[in-house]
Amino acid sequence: MFRFKPIGYVRSPYTSTKEIPKGLGAEHKAEGTLEILPEFEAGLADIEGFSHLFVIWIFDRSQGFELLGTPPSDNRPHGVFATRSPRRPNPIGLTVVELLRREGTRLHVRGLDMLDGTPILDIKPYLSSVPTESLRRGWLAEAEARKGK
Ligand SMILES: C[S@@+](CC[C@H](N)C(=O)[O-])C[C@H]1O[C@@H](n2cnc3c(N)ncnc32)[C@H](O)[C@@H]1O
Repeated sequence: MFRFKPIGYVRSPYTSTKEIPKGLGAEHKAEGTLEILPEFEAGLADIEGFSHLFVIWIFDRSQGFELLGTPPSDNRPHGVFATRSPRRPNPIGLTVVELLRREGTRLHVRGLDMLDGTPILDIKPYLSSVPTESLRRGWLAEAEARKGK
Protein backbone atom coordinates (compact mmCIF):
# COMPACT_ATOMS: atom_id res chain seq x y z
CA MET A 1 0.00 0.00 0.00
CA PHE A 2 1.05 3.58 -0.56
CA ARG A 3 0.11 6.61 1.45
CA PHE A 4 -0.03 10.02 -0.20
CA LYS A 5 -0.40 13.40 1.38
CA PRO A 6 -1.88 16.25 -0.70
CA ILE A 7 0.59 19.03 -1.55
CA GLY A 8 -2.33 21.41 -1.99
CA TYR A 9 -5.87 21.90 -3.29
CA VAL A 10 -7.53 23.09 -6.49
CA ARG A 11 -9.66 26.24 -6.37
CA SER A 12 -11.94 25.96 -9.39
CA PRO A 13 -15.29 27.48 -10.35
CA TYR A 14 -16.89 24.00 -10.33
CA THR A 15 -18.85 22.81 -7.31
CA SER A 16 -20.74 20.07 -9.14
CA THR A 17 -19.58 17.60 -11.81
CA LYS A 18 -22.57 18.67 -13.96
CA GLU A 19 -20.93 22.07 -14.48
CA ILE A 20 -17.76 20.60 -16.04
CA PRO A 21 -17.82 20.40 -19.88
CA LYS A 22 -17.92 16.78 -21.12
CA GLY A 23 -18.16 14.81 -24.33
CA LEU A 24 -16.76 15.26 -27.82
CA GLY A 25 -15.44 18.74 -28.48
CA ALA A 26 -15.64 19.76 -24.80
CA GLU A 27 -13.18 22.57 -24.10
CA HIS A 28 -11.60 23.16 -20.72
CA LYS A 29 -10.88 26.84 -20.36
CA ALA A 30 -11.83 27.32 -16.73
CA GLU A 31 -9.43 29.41 -14.70
CA GLY A 32 -8.61 28.97 -11.05
CA THR A 33 -5.70 28.38 -8.75
CA LEU A 34 -3.60 25.55 -7.43
CA GLU A 35 -3.12 26.42 -3.77
CA ILE A 36 0.05 24.74 -2.56
CA LEU A 37 0.57 24.20 1.16
CA PRO A 38 3.23 26.53 2.67
CA GLU A 39 5.45 23.61 3.70
CA PHE A 40 5.97 22.79 -0.01
CA GLU A 41 6.56 26.36 -1.25
CA ALA A 42 10.30 25.86 -1.81
CA GLY A 43 9.39 23.12 -4.31
CA LEU A 44 7.80 25.74 -6.58
CA ALA A 45 11.14 27.46 -7.25
CA ASP A 46 11.61 28.05 -11.02
CA ILE A 47 8.15 26.81 -11.98
CA GLU A 48 7.29 30.20 -13.55
CA GLY A 49 9.42 29.36 -16.60
CA PHE A 50 7.03 26.63 -17.74
CA SER A 51 3.96 27.47 -19.80
CA HIS A 52 2.08 24.25 -19.00
CA LEU A 53 2.01 21.84 -16.08
CA PHE A 54 0.85 18.30 -15.43
CA VAL A 55 -1.36 18.25 -12.34
CA ILE A 56 -1.76 14.85 -10.68
CA TRP A 57 -4.74 14.71 -8.37
CA ILE A 58 -7.30 12.54 -6.60
CA PHE A 59 -10.90 11.97 -7.72
CA ASP A 60 -11.90 12.43 -4.08
CA ARG A 61 -15.64 12.46 -4.87
CA SER A 62 -15.92 9.42 -7.12
CA GLN A 63 -16.98 6.08 -5.75
CA GLY A 64 -15.81 2.63 -6.80
CA PHE A 65 -14.72 1.74 -10.29
CA GLU A 66 -15.86 -0.05 -13.41
CA LEU A 67 -13.47 -1.79 -15.75
CA LEU A 68 -15.74 -1.22 -18.75
CA GLY A 69 -17.75 1.95 -19.14
CA THR A 70 -19.33 4.18 -21.76
CA PRO A 71 -17.75 7.63 -21.67
CA PRO A 72 -19.68 10.85 -22.44
CA SER A 73 -17.74 11.12 -25.70
CA ASP A 74 -19.03 7.84 -27.16
CA ASN A 75 -22.00 5.50 -27.14
CA ARG A 76 -19.85 2.37 -26.89
CA PRO A 77 -18.12 0.86 -23.84
CA HIS A 78 -14.34 1.00 -23.44
CA GLY A 79 -11.87 -0.33 -20.88
CA VAL A 80 -11.20 2.03 -18.00
CA PHE A 81 -7.52 2.26 -18.92
CA ALA A 82 -8.50 3.43 -22.42
CA THR A 83 -10.55 6.29 -20.96
CA ARG A 84 -10.20 9.20 -18.56
CA SER A 85 -13.06 7.96 -16.37
CA PRO A 86 -13.17 9.20 -12.74
CA ARG A 87 -14.25 5.69 -11.68
CA ARG A 88 -10.92 3.82 -11.75
CA PRO A 89 -9.20 1.29 -9.46
CA ASN A 90 -6.78 4.00 -8.29
CA PRO A 91 -8.76 7.25 -8.57
CA ILE A 92 -5.92 9.41 -9.87
CA GLY A 93 -6.58 12.31 -12.25
CA LEU A 94 -4.13 13.95 -14.64
CA THR A 95 -4.78 17.37 -16.14
CA VAL A 96 -2.58 19.62 -18.26
CA VAL A 97 -3.07 23.27 -17.32
CA GLU A 98 -1.61 26.50 -18.63
CA LEU A 99 0.34 28.39 -15.97
CA LEU A 100 -0.78 32.04 -16.09
CA ARG A 101 1.24 33.34 -13.14
CA ARG A 102 2.53 32.48 -9.70
CA GLU A 103 1.72 34.42 -6.57
CA GLY A 104 3.69 32.80 -3.75
CA THR A 105 2.08 29.43 -3.06
CA ARG A 106 -0.77 30.18 -5.47
CA LEU A 107 -0.49 29.12 -9.12
CA HIS A 108 -3.02 30.82 -11.37
CA VAL A 109 -3.90 28.39 -14.16
CA ARG A 110 -6.27 27.86 -17.09
CA GLY A 111 -7.73 24.55 -18.24
CA LEU A 112 -9.17 23.09 -15.05
CA ASP A 113 -11.56 20.13 -15.19
CA MET A 114 -11.61 19.41 -11.44
CA LEU A 115 -14.07 20.22 -8.71
CA ASP A 116 -13.30 22.95 -6.23
CA GLY A 117 -11.33 21.52 -3.29
CA THR A 118 -9.79 18.63 -5.24
CA PRO A 119 -6.60 17.38 -3.51
CA ILE A 120 -3.40 17.74 -5.54
CA LEU A 121 -0.80 14.96 -5.28
CA ASP A 122 1.91 16.36 -7.51
CA ILE A 123 2.81 18.92 -10.17
CA LYS A 124 5.35 18.44 -12.96
CA PRO A 125 6.34 20.59 -15.92
CA TYR A 126 4.58 19.57 -19.13
CA LEU A 127 7.13 18.40 -21.66
CA SER A 128 6.05 16.39 -24.66
CA SER A 129 8.53 14.84 -27.02
CA VAL A 130 5.95 12.87 -29.02
CA PRO A 131 5.52 14.38 -32.49
CA THR A 132 1.85 15.08 -33.31
CA GLU A 133 2.05 12.83 -36.38
CA SER A 134 3.01 9.85 -34.17
CA LEU A 135 -0.06 10.13 -31.94
CA ARG A 136 -2.99 7.75 -32.41
CA ARG A 137 -6.28 8.60 -30.73
CA GLY A 138 -7.90 5.15 -30.80
CA TRP A 139 -11.66 4.91 -30.22
CA LEU A 140 -11.87 8.66 -29.69
CA ALA A 141 -10.84 9.37 -33.29
CA GLU A 142 -13.48 6.85 -34.43
CA ALA A 143 -16.17 8.50 -32.28
CA GLU A 144 -15.19 11.91 -33.66
CA ALA A 145 -15.34 10.59 -37.21
CA ARG A 146 -18.82 9.07 -36.61
CA LYS A 147 -20.05 12.36 -35.17
CA GLY A 148 -18.64 14.27 -38.14
CA LYS A 149 -20.56 12.07 -40.63
C1 LIG B 1 -13.23 12.77 -17.43
S1 LIG B 1 -12.38 13.21 -15.93
C2 LIG B 1 -10.81 13.68 -16.60
C3 LIG B 1 -9.94 14.23 -15.54
C4 LIG B 1 -8.49 14.36 -15.93
N1 LIG B 1 -8.31 15.30 -17.02
C5 LIG B 1 -7.91 13.01 -16.29
O1 LIG B 1 -7.76 12.74 -17.47
O2 LIG B 1 -7.59 12.23 -15.39
C6 LIG B 1 -13.07 14.76 -15.53
C7 LIG B 1 -14.35 14.58 -14.79
O3 LIG B 1 -14.06 14.10 -13.49
C8 LIG B 1 -15.05 14.53 -12.59
N2 LIG B 1 -14.37 15.14 -11.44
C9 LIG B 1 -13.68 16.29 -11.40
N3 LIG B 1 -13.17 16.51 -10.18
C10 LIG B 1 -13.54 15.45 -9.42
C11 LIG B 1 -13.31 15.07 -8.07
N4 LIG B 1 -12.59 15.82 -7.25
N5 LIG B 1 -13.86 13.91 -7.62
C12 LIG B 1 -14.59 13.13 -8.44
N6 LIG B 1 -14.85 13.44 -9.74
C13 LIG B 1 -14.33 14.58 -10.23
C14 LIG B 1 -15.96 15.49 -13.34
O4 LIG B 1 -17.12 14.79 -13.72
C15 LIG B 1 -15.13 15.86 -14.56
O5 LIG B 1 -15.95 16.16 -15.66
